[in-house]
Amino acid sequence: MTNLIGILQEIQSEAGYLKKERLVEVSEKFDIPLSRIYSIATFFKSFSLVPPAKHKIMVCMGTACYVRGGHLIAERISQHLGIKPGEVTSDGNFKFETVNCLGACALGPLVLIDSDYHGKMTPQKIVKVLEKYK
Ligand code: FES
Repeated sequence: MTNLIGILQEIQSEAGYLKKERLVEVSEKFDIPLSRIYSIATFFKSFSLVPPAKHKIMVCMGTACYVRGGHLIAERISQHLGIKPGEVTSDGNFKFETVNCLGACALGPLVLIDSDYHGKMTPQKIVKVLEKYK
């Protein structure tokens, strides 16, 4: 039996994401339906089907952040950058994701950009914060 997850981890470590061409190669080499490979690749959050961006934005949607407006910040980021969670901007500058808890609930609503925590965030402040990462 082929260790598909191990193969996908190896591909991901090569380029930082799962290139479609490499997934097709795996499908043909090991005679695994491409749909099965994609179902595994999309099931595990550690795999990405898009190239890594220069900056990674994570908006906390955990309960403590959500009730303080975390979802409004996520909507503002989507609107401002023109991407949905899981997508990368066309210039490759930002990747935007939502997460369930960043482990600093007292700072909520919380946004993590690369390794910088931005607490007590608002939909108004996030646009100014994003400008610093261009
Ligand atoms: S719920 Fe947002 S940091 Fe925990």
